[in-house]
Order: sequence, then structure tokens, then C-alpha cells
Amino acid sequence: MAKIFSGIKPTGVVTLGNYLGAMKQFVELQEEHEAFYCVVDLHSITVQLDRVELMDNTRKLAALYLACGLDPEKSTIFVQSEVKAHAQLGWMLTCIAGMGELSRMTQYKDKSQNSENIGAGLFVYPTLMAADILLYGTELVPVGDDQKQHVELTRDLAERFNKRYYETFTIPEPLIQKEGARIMSLTNPVKKMSKSDANAKGFISMLDEPNVIRKKIKSAVTDSSGVISFDRENKPGISNLLEIYSLSTDTPIDDLVERYKDSNYGTFKQDVAEAVVAMLEPIQNRYHELVDSAELDAILDAGREKAEAVANKNLAKIEKAMGLNRKRAKVKK
Ligand code: TYM
Repeated sequence: MAKIFSGIKPTGVVTLGNYLGAMKQFVELQEEHEAFYCVVDLHSITVQLDRVELMDNTRKLAALYLACGLDPEKSTIFVQSEVKAHAQLGWMLTCIAGMGELSRMTQYKDKSQNSENIGAGLFVYPTLMAADILLYGTELVPVGDDQKQHVELTRDLAERFNKRYYETFTIPEPLIQKEGARIMSLTNPVKKMSKSDANAKGFISMLDEPNVIRKKIKSAVTDSSGVISFDRENKPGISNLLEIYSLSTDTPIDDLVERYKDSNYGTFKQDVAEAVVAMLEPIQNRYHELVDSAELDAILDAGREKAEAVANKNLAKIEKAMGLNRKRAKVKK
């Protein structure tokens, strides 16, 4: 039984990429591991957001966690800003991180490009993410491909801390699926599907209506060869749809390629769309029951308490290692 931690930002919509790359794994992992899943709202404020929108997004994401199958009896589900130790450890880790390594983070480079007002929070974002992970003694971090570099930085910071002070942190590993680790945009299949895409046709929201999903998949960019085969480099659009189809129905890609070898793109896209609609339908139904319910608040309150108990205990050890907080002196190593 490994310790698992992961999180998703409540910024904008939750996409099919978030689900297939991360959340689907979260659900599978909770069966055999001790898992903490967080709505990372402190990461969301690294860009300016309307306060009501942020509160709303936080609730929606938490409801989606549950609707996708996260079970509060098996996983700890909570909101990051409600467990104060995250921000505290984030600062402590910022103090051992270097400007150079933070400047090399591709997410920072992408997000700060063409932006005149780059927030300092965006720059130190990875140290807060490292705090999220290290606070729980995490061994495995299920994420999509784009977060690998941040988990690697987390490992470096943990190793540096352990060397500089004493052995305090477990060194975590990223857990990245073979398929689904990078679901691509429907309009530009060489780019990652992203909620921040200005063109909403590029992504599928977990809450899109069935007809919107059908339209988006119908207009997905493919190629002109007319052959349904898996080749990420030369046929990124079709390969992306094959991957989405495969994950939505738990069918191996090879079986799909065989099934559609004599079909055209139109028929194939229709079937992909129906598979996605069928997968999302029960999730959306459950989501609507939960999003405004008192049950959701009760689950998040209980999650906060469970997370806080672990986080505060571990923070005490970390503060002691760094020489912070007089009352920590009594804490055993
Ligand atoms: P975020 O909110 O951007 O994305 C949440 C998760 O979804 C994955 N993902 C994708 N996977 C496949 N294809 C895609 N197109 C796609 N788009 C997103 C991401 O890789 C991620 O796993 N920094 C993190 C949030 C975070 C976190 C953490 C994660 C904060 N603290 C601690 C793990 C552990 C982020 O921005 O994810």
C-alpha cells in the first residue's frame, strides 16, 4: 500500500484531458493505496481570478472528484487552502529552491510568455506543489505528462533538504500512464488539450452537453489519408481520437484499429463521440446531484480534518529539522 497524493487546479473547466490523464487513475488507485486528492485552489490564485468564480470552481471540481468515483471512505478529498500547512511548507521549500531551477520549468516558461505582468506566485508555483506532495510522505504522484518536471523538481528539493538537514522526506515518484498521459487538443492535435485554450472547440469539458461533445468531435482536426491507424507523429488527430476512444471504453487501441480498418473518419468520429457521451453521462448525473448538496460540504469538512491531522504531524517534524518553532523542539525525530 503506497501513499498517493495528487491535485487539480480549480481554474476554468475540468477537461477530458484532466479526467483521462489523471482522475481516472485516481479512482483506480484508491482501491489499494492510501490516497489524498486535493482541490489545489492556492495554485489557482497564481493567476487573477474572480472570487465567486473560484469558489464555484472549487465546489464543481470537488463534486466531479466524487462523481468520477472517488470514495471518501477510501480517499481523503479536501481543499488545499483549508489545510494551512501547505502554504507554510511551500514557503520553507521556496527558501531551499534556486532561481535557476525554477526558471527552467517549462510550465512557467509557457505561461509567462507574452505576458507583461508575471506574478511571483507563478514562478514559485512548483515549490507549493512540492509542499503538497512532501507533506503527506507521498510515494507516488499520479499525473499527466506535463507535470513530470514538477515532480522531478520535488524530488530534487526533497533530496536537498534531507542532505542539508537530516533525513525527513520520502522521495516521491511520478506515476504516468502509458496511454492518456497527454490528451491532445481537438483543433490542434500537436498541442495538449487545455482548459486555457481560447478556442473551446479544442477541449471537451467534463460537463459539456452530449450534443456539444458530438459537435466538437465531429469537427476534430484529422488528416487527409482516410486511414484509421495509430501513429502519433504522422497522424496526431486520429491517434488522439483512438486514444480517447480506447480509454473511454477500456478497449486496446489495436482492437479499435482492426475494427475500423474499413471505416471512414465520419463513422469513426461518430462512434468516438458516442463512447465519450456514454462514459460521461453517469458522471454528469451524479455531479448534478452533488454540486449543491450538504453532503459535499460534509465530505470536504471530514477530508480537511483527516488531511490536517497528517499534515500537521508531518509539518512538526519538518519544522524541527529546519530549526523552526520553539515548541517543536520536543518532537521526536
Ligand atoms: P492541472 O490542474 O493543470 O491538471 C490536473 C491533472 O490533469 C493532467 N492533465 C492532462 N493529462 C493528460 N492530457 C491532458 N491534456 C491533460 N491536461 C491536464 C495534469 O497532468 C494533472 O495531472 N500543478 C498541477 C496541480 C497540482 C498537483 C499538486 C498535482 C498542484 N499540486 C501535487 C500533483 C501533485 C496542475 O496544474 O494540474
